[in-house]
Amino acid sequence: MSEDVGGARADRPGAGVPQGTGGSMSEDVGGARADRPGAGVPQGTGGSMSEDVGGARADRPGAGVPQGTTGMSASRLLRQLDDVGVDARRGGYSRHVFDSAELQLRDWFRQEAVRRGIDVETDRNGNLWAWWSGPGRNAVVTGSHLDSVPGGGAFDGPLGVVSAFDAVDRLRRKGVVPTRPVALVAFAEEEGGRFGVPCLGSRLLTGSLDPDRARGLRDVDGVSLAEAATAVGLAPESLGRDDAALERIGTFVELHVEQGRGLVDLESPVAVGSTVIPHGRWRFSFSGQGNHAGATALEDRADPMLPAAAVVAAARRVAGTYDDARATVGRLVPRPGGTNVIAAAADLWLDARVPDDSATREMVAEITEYAQESAATEGCSVRVYEESYSDGVSFDPELRTRMAGALGEVPALATGAGHDAAILASRVPAGMLYVRNPAGISHAPEEFAEADDVEHGAAALAAVLERLAT
Ligand code: GLV
Ligand code: MN
Ligand code: MN
Repeated sequence: MSEDVGGARADRPGAGVPQGTGGSMSEDVGGARADRPGAGVPQGTGGSMSEDVGGARADRPGAGVPQGTTGMSASRLLRQLDDVGVDARRGGYSRHVFDSAELQLRDWFRQEAVRRGIDVETDRNGNLWAWWSGPGRNAVVTGSHLDSVPGGGAFDGPLGVVSAFDAVDRLRRKGVVPTRPVALVAFAEEEGGRFGVPCLGSRLLTGSLDPDRARGLRDVDGVSLAEAATAVGLAPESLGRDDAALERIGTFVELHVEQGRGLVDLESPVAVGSTVIPHGRWRFSFSGQGNHAGATALEDRADPMLPAAAVVAAARRVAGTYDDARATVGRLVPRPGGTNVIAAAADLWLDARVPDDSATREMVAEITEYAQESAATEGCSVRVYEESYSDGVSFDPELRTRMAGALGEVPALATGAGHDAAILASRVPAGMLYVRNPAGISHAPEEFAEADDVEHGAAALAAVLERLAT
């Protein structure tokens, strides 16, 4: 089965196996929005967000606030999103590409841009762009993503987007007139929470994901990306590498909440990103024999949950033998999934990251070998599919120097988390700013950044944009 590693395709055996996570997507997607004004551009639902956004606020444009800004800080902008995509079942937020919550966030993005007199466009891959003074080449681009992991926190993604608006406001208040175009961006499906492939929008944009494969990716309800894209008015045949959009990006800078305790230890509110470690996702599909939990003697079973459980433990054990490695099984799905039913099959997803590319693959190969042995011992079989892989990235040294030059004393920080900036780094100079996370918890409802640090982050982003765009 090891030859299956690396051959992940939605159209391979097991293609019917629901991918991604996310809740009841079919309803959201079923509310097709292609009939809304501006077909071809995902519109979203509006709903309570529009009311919030449209409602009176003390810090709305008005007296004392220069035209084209809102005077609203990144923290206040973020609080506008508090009610969107709250996941009562899991806790935290579940916001997945083209579901109702994510469409509300897209509406919010448009409204914030319009409020500043900034034009918004959706590219062929569902990424949102807002151009400060119109599109152009060699642009300085900043932003992040609006989607979340299942049951995620409020900061991962949206912090970079609200800080981008805040930074533009700061520059406008200061009277800065950029000599390069400046764009704010929200990339689609950074977490891969619905269709399983992280950084879906930036991978498609840069051509690092085969559009045929992307169109066939399916969510837990069996809805394909092609269908979901169509439902929001995007043309699925247009998904894929977008040279016109890419050529406009001169530099990309993403601000992000830190996802560990690095900045706590460094006692700094912000840092400039240095490296992102290699990371990938592998699906292990175990097959056994579904049967009766009471009537089937232990020796007569082929229970795929046994090798699956063994792999959960083996992933931790094997990772412990590599330097600074991480291996995680965050998702294990027995089928059919009944308390008194021996599963007929079980899928688990391994997230593996080691600071060295070949070591990452070596570690996954070791875990795969263990999975095969455990499956055979139980009379089961296993197939392994690579669903995504990202090489390690070192951010552009010249850009890092320029960012540090704009910020003065600021530490550099390596991360184990993946980002759209790391995908773009293969095509354009890209860099990152991190904002301190006091508990170091992320991808969980406890994810947090203090308002003062958020303020520091937005000010740092404004300083970097000013340095790059003037
Ligand atoms: C994204 O946050 C990832 O690293 O999985
Ligand atoms: Mn994340
Ligand atoms: Mn993120």
